[in-house]
Amino acid sequence: MAEKILVTSALPYANGPVHIGHAVEYVQTDIYVRFLRSCGKDVVYFCADDTHGTPIELSAAKQGLKPEEFVARFHDEHQRDFHDLDIRFDYFHSTNSPENRHYAELIYARLKDKGDIERRDIEQAYCEKDQRFLPDRFIKGTCPNCKAPNQYGDSCEVCGKAYSSTDLLDPQCSLCGTSPVRKSSAHLFFKLSRHADFLQSVLRKPGFIHPGLAAQLQGFFGGSGLADWDISRDGPYFGFAIPGETNKFFYVWLDAPIGYIATTEKWAKETGKAKSALDYWDAGSDARIIHFIGKDIVYFHALFWPAVLNVAGFKVPTELKVHGHLTVNGEKMSKRRGTMVPVRDYLDQLDPSYLRYFYAANLGAGVEDLDLSLKDFRERVNGELVNNVCNLANRALSLLAGPLEKRLAPGRAEGPGRALVESALARVPEVRAAFDKLEYRNAIRAITDIASAANAFVQTQAPWAAVRKPETAEGARADLSDVADVVYLLGALLAPVTPRLSEKLFAQLGAPALTFQALEGAKYPLLDRSRPTGTPEPLLPRLEPERVNAIIKTPEGAPQAADAKPAGGKEKKKVESDKKPAAAPQPASAGATQASAGAGAGEAPGEIEYADFAKVVLKAGRVVVAEKVKDADKLLKLTVDLGEPTGPRTIVSGIAEAYAPEALTGRRVVVVANLKPRKLRGIESRGMLLTAGTGGKDLSLLDPGDMPPGSEVK
Ligand code: MSP
Ligand code: ZN
Repeated sequence: MAEKILVTSALPYANGPVHIGHAVEYVQTDIYVRFLRSCGKDVVYFCADDTHGTPIELSAAKQGLKPEEFVARFHDEHQRDFHDLDIRFDYFHSTNSPENRHYAELIYARLKDKGDIERRDIEQAYCEKDQRFLPDRFIKGTCPNCKAPNQYGDSCEVCGKAYSSTDLLDPQCSLCGTSPVRKSSAHLFFKLSRHADFLQSVLRKPGFIHPGLAAQLQGFFGGSGLADWDISRDGPYFGFAIPGETNKFFYVWLDAPIGYIATTEKWAKETGKAKSALDYWDAGSDARIIHFIGKDIVYFHALFWPAVLNVAGFKVPTELKVHGHLTVNGEKMSKRRGTMVPVRDYLDQLDPSYLRYFYAANLGAGVEDLDLSLKDFRERVNGELVNNVCNLANRALSLLAGPLEKRLAPGRAEGPGRALVESALARVPEVRAAFDKLEYRNAIRAITDIASAANAFVQTQAPWAAVRKPETAEGARADLSDVADVVYLLGALLAPVTPRLSEKLFAQLGAPALTFQALEGAKYPLLDRSRPTGTPEPLLPRLEPERVNAIIKTPEGAPQAADAKPAGGKEKKKVESDKKPAAAPQPASAGATQASAGAGAGEAPGEIEYADFAKVVLKAGRVVVAEKVKDADKLLKLTVDLGEPTGPRTIVSGIAEAYAPEALTGRRVVVVANLKPRKLRGIESRGMLLTAGTGGKDLSLLDPGDMPPGSEVK
């Protein structure tokens, strides 16, 4: 029987929206799961909300809600966010569930039976006014080391020293400001110290964890050895009551990972696809269990969790896949700066494919942090995904569907088209290995190489001209059919990363979804050439700066122009003024640019703000073809490639006296790309060419040099 694989992402806390930092983890995991599935593996993917603990209890109270009601809200919201980000869990459950209570109690009973639970009195900070013990994060005071005021109870953010909350000078309850007292109470400890040898053997297992992290974890074993783990909290606390105790609850980090098992159980019950969670989690199961986690929660997953599972007779995870943290524009995410962007705010502006692509293009197997610079984001996505991959698909598909009537040519015995497909196919093992090792950025590099080679082929063969002449049309059909093969392959290779885009590609090729499994041993030609292609539709539009910048909102909700790019090129930091006008989505009227499309340029408007200039989107374009407009001496109708997946635009321009249409094919031009479309002599013109000169014969088209179509002009 095929090997069974269970994959999890860490369970997000149910006390806030999922943000784009969390998304790194869910996207990374989802790509892996989709990849495994495409390889034909038997894989399930689980997650759940992590619902317990003091912060959630207090947040609920603040809103006058029962904790159950409070977390229920986030459950729906989180599910929607994940779904719209194209994350597909097999089940998304909650740690506040009957299944989780069952397994938490069962595991606790087993730990107790084995003599692994010990009762000890400990002294902690207690607020008499609030009548609760205070976790470290709920105590503030002066650092005993550097005397910095206003520091949390666990460590000082100024000097970095870690201490115990009882060492803080003039400590205060962060809820009510009164000074806490010390109070003793009995806590239950899991005797982790007894399992040091077992844990060392787990850490040494090949593939369990990155060796660098295993080495780092050695720190916990040194000195006086592994410390026992406090698994109880006194009430009031939102969690599961500990059986046989009064007013004691399981610490959230005990029952949180048990949520992985509980979710498996719930899924098994709901779908009937397994008898119970034990099909995966029984100590004797030979399933592979893979946890994806962030670097901040490694010791819970690498130390406590394997020891607890082992003592309780469950299967110990096979692999921990640890990633680094997301920074935004080079800085730690922060609510204050508005960079802790909720996934929903992103999705309100943009298709998830862009973010998934960008993360993939930057993710390796290591734990280094990853940066989302909005400028990089836009440039990489536009340059690689939109201008390269989508543009290739669009060029091939629109010519095939239009002039070539959706018919493909049979495969050829030899020639550059066949060689193109075959060299693309030769790179499949490299892409597969990269996904398998979580070196997504290497996979993306190979994929974009394949697309670039195909675009270069199209450029050389120039099929847009060839399809129009009967004597060359069949050659063009054969070339474009080979390009369609490459597009089909790209659809398969990108499917784990941008599943929506791949679905569109498959549909527009009129072909069934192509998988990594099907690619094993696949040969030229890839497509069934006897089937008609589908109807081309827009794939992914280019990312526009306004849209991208609108992702980051100031906490007041006003979009800020994060990289509006003043001439110096350095990214603009958030300006202190609290309200800025939203980046204008309206195309500006001609404004300061002098142009020649027959539109009157108007009088000089005097000085304008940079922001006004920035509204004009200027792009490099390439003339595909130009012709005279009937009965209009001055006008030419041009087809101009702006690197857009929607295909070249029609632009009518008043340059007929200065340029012969034939001379313009292939010529580079600068286009005002966001002008409202306008009808000239019955032809809709979508944009305007920039020229210098006085008009008539005295006109010269502006030249953007060698920049590819779609490049921004500033
Ligand atoms: N509830 C715990 C996990 C329990 S697992 C049994 C928790 N929740 S969390 O909401 O804070 O984080 C969920 C996951 O998102 C963690 O793996 C965490 O590392 C990851 N990330 C949170 N912020 C992140 C970034 N800025 N960047 C990348 N991953 C981030 O921890
Ligand atoms: Zn208090």
